[in-house]
Amino acid sequence: MADVAFRGATRRFGGRPAVERLDLEVADGELLVLLGPSGCGKTTALRMVAGLEEPDEGEILIGGRVVNDVEPKDRDVAMVFQSYALYPHLNVEHNIEFPLRRRGVDAQRRRQTVREVAASLGLQELLARKPRELSGGQRQRVALARAIVRQPRAFLMDEPLSNLDAALRLQTRADIVALQTRLGTTTLYVTHDQVEAMTMGHRIAVLDHGVLQQVGPPHALYDRPANLFVAKFLGSPGMNALPATLEGTTAHAARVARVARVDGGHVPLGDDGAAAAGQAASLVVGVRPEHLALSPSGTLEAKVLLVELLGADVHVLCQLGDQTKLVVRQDASAPRPAIGDGVRIVVASGSVHVFTGGSGARLGGPG
Ligand SMILES: Nc1ncnc2c1ncn2[C@@H]1O[C@H](COP(=O)(O)OP(=O)(O)O)[C@@H](O)[C@H]1O
Ligand SMILES: [Mg+2]
Repeated sequence: MADVAFRGATRRFGGRPAVERLDLEVADGELLVLLGPSGCGKTTALRMVAGLEEPDEGEILIGGRVVNDVEPKDRDVAMVFQSYALYPHLNVEHNIEFPLRRRGVDAQRRRQTVREVAASLGLQELLARKPRELSGGQRQRVALARAIVRQPRAFLMDEPLSNLDAALRLQTRADIVALQTRLGTTTLYVTHDQVEAMTMGHRIAVLDHGVLQQVGPPHALYDRPANLFVAKFLGSPGMNALPATLEGTTAHAARVARVARVDGGHVPLGDDGAAAAGQAASLVVGVRPEHLALSPSGTLEAKVLLVELLGADVHVLCQLGDQTKLVVRQDASAPRPAIGDGVRIVVASGSVHVFTGGSGARLGGPG
């Protein structure tokens, strides 16, 4: 096993950086999730570790050693892709044992290892089947098994669950976490799915346009996002962002008023938020949908645009003034408004995050 690190790693395509000056360490035995929207550079980052993509600048380290000049086959990492990349003409057993055969492991050892790993993934009954005779979930298990038998120093997983339906995704997600915990193998796991990131990662690293935005434990990113991008990307739906102004323009006025004016009314800033907001020329306040509620005593006036029932939860999309929309999360048991209703929204005290209007950097808020 080994830690994996990026040091100032940049990879450009046609002059444009796909990954820019990435500094990131995956600790020995850690499951780190690299999260971001499509095209943000996740696969490129992973391929740099695998040796399939060479950094234009910076270094990749595995086990504390710079591997920039080490051939992919000598890096001792195993990659698992979204497309399972199994050999179609080989049965499950031969697919799984392929890396061992290539390594010259004798037949008896191969057989034993394949049986053990197959059993741990519930594949023992399927060893004689060809990939085309398997479901998507089973194929992905075979791909995982093939990575595991190698006993690599690190797993690199690129959206391995994307091709699975929702139920299988949930199951396989749990399987990967259990497996990673049992094996303790350093894992860099790439996804665009924030739910996967929140539920699987020991830590999450959020990437946007090739640039690392924030890295930390899931709850830390959710509770204290470093900027608006992270705030909106985590959560379903993400944090509401409301352009805001202070009553008056000085820090002093902010402390007195301790509220920010937004379309449709005002929101309470709290001590920390008010102090932080006083320093900024332009502001955006952020509130998570679960910290909002419909109530006649609310400080925001809004019109209901959409009511989405999602089983236990209801998402109420509201229009504030001309420019701003926000989502209120309710329990399904609460009285539901109708589309077009005028409503008032109450903001939970101590729940308002403050960001700069320009870069979107966090200025203050709870936590
Ligand atoms: N081989 C390549 N040639 C040119 N551009 C590429 C290549 N690979 C990736 N890119 C570009 O680099 C950016 C990041 O791509 P990628 O790492 O695949 O993102 P992600 O995996 O997050 O979706 C994208 O703009 C993509 O078009
Ligand atoms: Mg990708």
